[in-house]
Amino acid sequence: MLHLAELTRPEWYPSIKDSLDVILIDHTHLEKRAASTALSMIFRYTGRSGVPRRLSEVVAEEMDHFTRMLDILDARGVELRRLDPAPYASCLVEEIRSQEPQRFLDKLLVAGLIEARSCERFSILAKEVDDPELAEFYEELFEAEANHYTLYTGLARDHFPEQEVEERLDALALKEVEALRAETDLPRLHSY
Ligand SMILES: [Fe+2]
Ligand SMILES: [Fe+2]
Repeated sequence: MLHLAELTRPEWYPSIKDSLDVILIDHTHLEKRAASTALSMIFRYTGRSGVPRRLSEVVAEEMDHFTRMLDILDARGVELRRLDPAPYASCLVEEIRSQEPQRFLDKLLVAGLIEARSCERFSILAKEVDDPELAEFYEELFEAEANHYTLYTGLARDHFPEQEVEERLDALALKEVEALRAETDLPRLHSY
């Protein structure tokens, strides 16, 4: 349903579990970036039907997630500091074609795939983290990000022929796994 070409390997959680605070900081930045992506699409594609209304919901929800992540960091006594991001998102952004309307389609599908991967990772965190409150929060985020995946791919289907969307989604899903594999030693939400 999430259209991921490959599921997260079982080694991922053990590789990050001793760096949970860093993962939480990384995750906080990602919520902010998700809001920013949706907002920038509202600016660029205001004339595309459904974009302002539906993406304004995404902006509001991602900012809510961001604020709640700040609360979680505060409660754990963790300071939000700058972190080098995983190479994942920038690798995926390189796959976005520069010509319109292909650019619009790719932006929607890349945003959708990032939501899908985050969603999958949140379901792992929901099962694995020791803190029951945090686990419950990740359960809730799993659902929210799954809805965002559906929203982005739904917008793509509203604006492009079904077959074009499916073919491009298949191709980008393979690139998404490559982006996940992009070398990093850093413990990140989107590390391999
Ligand atoms: Fe979010
Ligand atoms: Fe999201």
